[in-house]
Amino acid sequence: MADTAPVLKAVVPAAGLGTRFLPATKATPKEMLPIVDKPAIQYVVEEAVDAGLTDVLMITGRNKRSIEDHFDRAYELEEALEAKGDDDRLASVRESADLAIMHYVRQGEPKGLGHAVFCARQHVGNEPFAILLGDDMIDARDPLLRRMIEVRQRHGGSVVALMEVEPDQVSAYGSAAIEATDEDDVVRITDLVEKPPEGEAPSNWIIIGRYVCDPEVFNVLENTPPGRGGEIQLTDALRTLADMPSEKGGGVYGVKFRGRRYDTGNKLEYLRTVVQFASERDDLAEDFLAWLHDFVRDHPVPSARP
Ligand code: UTP
Repeated sequence: MADTAPVLKAVVPAAGLGTRFLPATKATPKEMLPIVDKPAIQYVVEEAVDAGLTDVLMITGRNKRSIEDHFDRAYELEEALEAKGDDDRLASVRESADLAIMHYVRQGEPKGLGHAVFCARQHVGNEPFAILLGDDMIDARDPLLRRMIEVRQRHGGSVVALMEVEPDQVSAYGSAAIEATDEDDVVRITDLVEKPPEGEAPSNWIIIGRYVCDPEVFNVLENTPPGRGGEIQLTDALRTLADMPSEKGGGVYGVKFRGRRYDTGNKLEYLRTVVQFASERDDLAEDFLAWLHDFVRDHPVPSARP
């Protein structure tokens, strides 16, 4: 059922413990780790703004200060750069403060992604909204969120982003049971399973960190008990919504994404992302790639060493 209510607000959960990146994340949220010289979370906010969402609510945890400071003015720093006439750096410092209207709410205890999203209830109210995970980046050249908003307006309900992975990878993610629709990149979700045991996944399509949700998700989350890992799982709430396709706010669709995605919450992927972004930078590519070629030549893969 079409629902043309506009999607205006973005929720960015960034309150996880980031244990995979300790000790770097002891006092810094993992979302603030730099991709060359810009924190991952700034790319995520830029993506929301590119999709027309300029009201951004961050769900923060115990280390929220650095995130708030990053999206705020930094007068002392700006004055110092102004005095030096360093206009480029001054612009880069101001850019993050001028991006969007930022709001913050604290999760308190990291009781899971579902619980983090529930903390957005009061700010979001009774409107559809987008969720962008703060450690998951989508390449700006492959817009996904706009397409998801279109799908939500056409079908109503909630929309998740899906990516196809190798069968032996599925058990690390949430996997979706899907049914085709009349659009090639859109599927109906009939079931969702968080981290299915190997061989039991309903498909090779996994859920990635972009969602457009009907506000009904808050009512469902309120009654969703802790699931896997003792955490309140967003996937469990979405499964409930997928089970009630003809009720108000129910039904879940998936958009098949075939573009570039960077999961910066994972060490190997984080390193790949930094290398890739550095290789595409006008100010770094030539020197960096020259060094990288030599480095790779001198460092064979350990398993291939004689
Ligand atoms: P992850 O499971 O990747 O984050 O959650 P994590 O728990 O911080 O990571 P590890 O496994 O310990 O390294 C995905 C997203 O949801 C947020 C995280 O900040 C991340 O952006 N999240 C997760 C919350 O905001 N609150 C939570 O309670 C859990």
